[in-house]
Amino acid sequence: MEQNNFADYLQHPVFRLISNAAECLGMPAFVIGGFVRDIFLKRPCTDIDVVVAGDGIALARKVGSMIHPKQQVSVFKNFGTAMIAYQGYQIEFVGARRESYRYDSRKPMVEEGTLQDDQNRRDFTINAMALSLQTDDFGQLIDPFEGLNDMQELLIKTPLDPDKTFSDDPLRMMRAIRFATQLNFFIDPDTFDSIARNNERIKIISAERISEELNKIILSPTPSRGFILLEKCGLLPLIFPQLSALKGAEFMDGRGHKDNFYHTLKVLDNLAQKSDNLWLRWAALLHDIGKPNTKRFEPGIGWTFHGHDHLGSKMVYQIFNQLKLPLNEKMNYVQKLVLLHLRPIVLSEDQVTDSAIRRLLFDAGEEIDDLMLLCEADITSKNPEKVKKYLSNFRLVRQKLKEIEEKDRITNWQPPISGEMIMDVFGIPPGKTVGIIKTNIREAILDGIIKNDFSEAYSLMLKEGEKIGLKPVKDFL
Ligand code: CTP
Repeated sequence: MEQNNFADYLQHPVFRLISNAAECLGMPAFVIGGFVRDIFLKRPCTDIDVVVAGDGIALARKVGSMIHPKQQVSVFKNFGTAMIAYQGYQIEFVGARRESYRYDSRKPMVEEGTLQDDQNRRDFTINAMALSLQTDDFGQLIDPFEGLNDMQELLIKTPLDPDKTFSDDPLRMMRAIRFATQLNFFIDPDTFDSIARNNERIKIISAERISEELNKIILSPTPSRGFILLEKCGLLPLIFPQLSALKGAEFMDGRGHKDNFYHTLKVLDNLAQKSDNLWLRWAALLHDIGKPNTKRFEPGIGWTFHGHDHLGSKMVYQIFNQLKLPLNEKMNYVQKLVLLHLRPIVLSEDQVTDSAIRRLLFDAGEEIDDLMLLCEADITSKNPEKVKKYLSNFRLVRQKLKEIEEKDRITNWQPPISGEMIMDVFGIPPGKTVGIIKTNIREAILDGIIKNDFSEAYSLMLKEGEKIGLKPVKDFL
């Protein structure tokens, strides 16, 4: 293979097809962007961006008509793009363009341009490389900004003056940090300084698009790298002030507390080694989010954060809402884990009683394994003795959890007496009284005072009713 010719990576017949169609129309076409970058990263990529010196939609239609059986071409007139799905690939066609952006909007004014114009308007040098689809130099790399070199140097760098590239589309500031985190690359110092200079411009970007990048950072192998970069360039307080507020350690009477920002990031990194679950990773990021607002210095005791689990859990809604993350069962899951994150630790420091274990199983339900993963990730002490002690206590908790679950089947457990039965037996309408009786029965079972069976629960229900002057009007025994 000739130097800088990458035809070997364009062996799928679809590339020759596009090449023939482009030749027929007399419109030079090139593969550009992520697909080319991912060849060098050895990452499989099924999204192919084709840029055309001419009319992208016309080329897509031509390609669509040459494929057998004929393929549907989806046309997005407003964007001047067209898309074909073919043999597992998504191919997007667009005419080469020059764009200029207004200061207060992301909506570009688009004009036709050359391949070089199109490469100029791309975000990073590694995303601006193109491969020719012309017959005479098929597979030739066109790399005016030495993206290949930056690829080898592991550098994220804008093709033009970074102030211009970021001003054109401020989301790129997040993308720079996301790519650096995802790929383990470094951001070129001039590019990074420009992010710090332009950080306020992020305000014109929608929360959805910001969160998409945040999620990609969180799903990276070492997510802390991204958050440290976001903090350093001043983007974090603008997009996620609650996380930024965790930063810093205060001292009083010679006593300090740990920096909760770096602690949180360590927990997130620890967890990232164990699980790819995005929402569990979110729970790690938010587990101590209630700390700044519950922090107190208590003379003789030191720094305390009482109730940060409860407050943190309440803050999850506000944060998910502000970042336009889903306000559904995924959010409930994060809330639950933040609320319960101290429970296994407290348990492991205390005597591990059966009733405490039953209670934890009941409260955590199906999330018990994820909660244990989060708690183990939360051990960030630098003292190896402490770490050893915590880990062995957790092993004990895990073993007990298994034993009790096998014995009592608490996960997904419903207490044997329902609210309907309480209403039926005493002939009372729905209301507080029903809730109180139900809770007392449940608590008695969890505490091991009565057995988890119908007849013991039924007797307790009658006793509880009697205490508050209720008489049974029906008998189910
Ligand atoms: N691009 C850009 N500025 C943006 C978004 C995208 O210049 N804000 C360009 C880049 O050249 C990029 C290409 O459009 O390579 C395709 O963008 P996209 O599909 O968003 O991303 P990929 O680079 O393919 O990477 P990923 O799929 O990981 O987002």
